[in-house]
Amino acid sequence: MSVEQTNQSWGGRFSEPVDAFVARFTASVGFDKRLYKHDIMGSIAHATMLAKVGVLTVDERDAIEAGLKQIQTEIEAGQFDWRVDLEDVHMNIEARLTDRIGITGKKLHTGRSRNDQVATDIRLWLRDEIDLILAEITRLQQGLLGLAAAESETIMPGFTHLQTAQPVIFGHHLLAWFEMLSRDHERLVDCRKRANRMPLGSAALAGTTYPIDRELTAQLLGFDAVGGNSLDGVSDRDFAIEFCAAASIAMMHLSRFSEELVLWTSAQFRFIDLPDRFCTGSSIMPQKKNPDVPELVRGKSGRVFGALMGLLTLMKGQPLAYNKDNQEDKEPLFDAADTLRDSLRAFADMVPAIKPKREVMREAALRGFSTATDLADYLVRKGLPFRDCHEIVGHAVKYGVQTGKDLAEMSLAELRGFSEQIDDDVFAVLTLEGSVNARDHIGGTAPNQVRAAIVRGQALLASR
Ligand code: ARG
Repeated sequence: MSVEQTNQSWGGRFSEPVDAFVARFTASVGFDKRLYKHDIMGSIAHATMLAKVGVLTVDERDAIEAGLKQIQTEIEAGQFDWRVDLEDVHMNIEARLTDRIGITGKKLHTGRSRNDQVATDIRLWLRDEIDLILAEITRLQQGLLGLAAAESETIMPGFTHLQTAQPVIFGHHLLAWFEMLSRDHERLVDCRKRANRMPLGSAALAGTTYPIDRELTAQLLGFDAVGGNSLDGVSDRDFAIEFCAAASIAMMHLSRFSEELVLWTSAQFRFIDLPDRFCTGSSIMPQKKNPDVPELVRGKSGRVFGALMGLLTLMKGQPLAYNKDNQEDKEPLFDAADTLRDSLRAFADMVPAIKPKREVMREAALRGFSTATDLADYLVRKGLPFRDCHEIVGHAVKYGVQTGKDLAEMSLAELRGFSEQIDDDVFAVLTLEGSVNARDHIGGTAPNQVRAAIVRGQALLASR
């Protein structure tokens, strides 16, 4: 990147060149060049609209479009000389256009400002990023449905307080993640609606004196609507904040999911195996196989939360309309989108490759008195009030802890010592299968219900 001494785009009223460090300090081209495609797309639509309303001739419009397309080719071939003295992506491309097509290039900026241009570019860019992220969410959800279908009868201990609580179906547990991701998808779809409104036409802040047709430009760019206030259009970045909020929630979900994978692969749980290609070893401990991908995703949630806090802080004290502060919106936004997309991609690749260890899960579910609630519910069905049943089962559990026996391992005589109401039909209730099968309602863990939830999930994904 080269640094020159003056800036031709706005240098007219200046009597000395910008300090070399200040030029670098205020430049954004190092990161906003990433917007080149959307900047060019916006410029072609703007020029097309200007020709339609008679501000440019059709020949001028055509020359601009051809010039911009060649510039896009140059950029994509890595042959474009990005100049820091030209500050940002917008002025780099415009200056190059004038190099290529001469005076007509200088007409492109008629009736617009970098203020509405950059606000438009970011929205166009974010719209595309959201679409890519939504596709990754769907891919991950497909993986979860596939694994849940294979594990719709696998029993594991369900936890509260990370203590064994009640048996659940492993597929049911996986579908909890499916539900969270469905809401993440909804949130991003909703956020996309508000991002997809066009600020172009706001010009610097007050609108423009040219007879622009904003509806036409919006239509050319696929925006759903035209922003209703020029000051708001160049100024607010709430759409970026909203995206980072939705991305933060999605990363929070992935972080929780990561934590479970880390626990489950540990020697203490051994519930699942992750294939070697998603793990790494230790340079000192030869036996190690570390769940790096989930750990890294758990860690990366921090940078997305940071982007959200950064953007909120960036915006909170700004008076209307555009302020240079807003140039700081891009790096956190780019980073949040990249991080979320990469994390989803890693998970979408990894989840179908999870190898459950069914026997280990089952063994764990058999320990920890996971069917204690079932015994209490059994006594309720025999006519006792629930609180008394809770107390009776509590005594049985205490006895089990002392004797090292699970409830299902006690004899009928032992169990009747706690309540005369217990008969030998109790053993059907104390099995793991009896326990999960009994929770047979929408959202419950019975295998029937897990299969029904998978069908609903498939229909949801097919409707996208
Ligand atoms: N690089 C600037 C940004 O990202 C573009 C807008 C500059 N506008 C201005 N009046 N200096 O916000």
